[in-house]
Amino acid sequence: MSITSLLQQATLLPEHYRTLSRTDMESRILAIKKKLGRQLFIPGHHYQKDEVIQFADATGDSLQLAQLSAANKEAKHIVFCGVHFMAETADMLTTEKQHVYLPDMRAGCSMADMADIYQTEQAWSILQQLFGDTIIPLTYVNSTAAIKAFTGHYGGACVTSSNAKEMVKWAFSQKQRILFLPDQHLGRNTAYDLGVPLENMAVWNPHTNTLETEQSSENIQVILWKGHCSVHEGFTVQHTEMVRQAHPNMRIIVHPECSREVVAAADDAGSTKYIIDTINNAPSGSAWAIGTEMNLVNRMMLHHSDKQIISLNKNFCPCLTMNRIDLPHLLWSLESIEQGKPHNRIQVDPHIAEEARSSLERMLARG
Ligand code: 13P
Ligand code: SF4
Repeated sequence: MSITSLLQQATLLPEHYRTLSRTDMESRILAIKKKLGRQLFIPGHHYQKDEVIQFADATGDSLQLAQLSAANKEAKHIVFCGVHFMAETADMLTTEKQHVYLPDMRAGCSMADMADIYQTEQAWSILQQLFGDTIIPLTYVNSTAAIKAFTGHYGGACVTSSNAKEMVKWAFSQKQRILFLPDQHLGRNTAYDLGVPLENMAVWNPHTNTLETEQSSENIQVILWKGHCSVHEGFTVQHTEMVRQAHPNMRIIVHPECSREVVAAADDAGSTKYIIDTINNAPSGSAWAIGTEMNLVNRMMLHHSDKQIISLNKNFCPCLTMNRIDLPHLLWSLESIEQGKPHNRIQVDPHIAEEARSSLERMLARG
């Protein structure tokens, strides 16, 4: 669902929540959590603010949160602290009796909005004419339920940054070519790591309905949707050069949503979970420049005072939509549930959900 249609549906935060003190909000949230017990489940993505993360029953990257949602059959109310596509995924992987809520409907993902279903269907029909039945679609979970359904319909699967390599390998065992939506960078970085030459990757431009490539069509192995994450595009090769100059011993680690050039200039790249695990396992005294979302980098700095950690971009890169979930919105969401008048429920159309689920399940079956 696009940001515009989300906003049309949204109920906005009543003004008086903005005047509450932090301690008041925290104690009211704690009281509701205690009262609802296991009927309530609050998953929190690692990019969420600390003020929200402190109340999460589980934290994780998008793959872990999808797995947790599929495993949790108990909670009646799931208050998802993340962005819209993650809450949609949770809705599709839980039972009908479980209801998923997003505390602020404005918490979308700009990358997910870069591929809409009409553009995708048009692209598919042109690509079928160009390449015949040789393409399998793969979509990053950062996509709308409609794109996941499209992917499921044509035999494809979802991927996250944690399992992208596994899923791209699987996709090549099914068909000769992959259409990778909507993040060109994750698609390019993953395929490159698996040995696909850059010149064998074309870019599909949904605004001009054209394939951007200098390669002859028979050599094209991967078709990358021209989408990106504006947070991770905020890291540049100049940032890596500045770090190398100022801190020659520092290792640079980035998320694969960064451009190919930035990943190539870094020492290491991997999903949110991979970055967290790498820093957790790094020796005391080691030095790191991290290229990913600001809240997570700040948290790692705080938790690893024995290591030198900086953001790869000294101006930091916040995900503005993730940051829309804050204490007032969380409290408002929980109080509306407690009062039996919940709002901002995320409910995927059942016809879309059925095919979308098949693409999610193909992913979950492979880890
Ligand atoms: P992860 O799959 O690493 O959780 O990333 C989700 C995301 O939105 C990154 O920008
Ligand atoms: Fe979307 Fe980028 Fe924010 Fe992740 S960091 S939710 S990809 S806008």
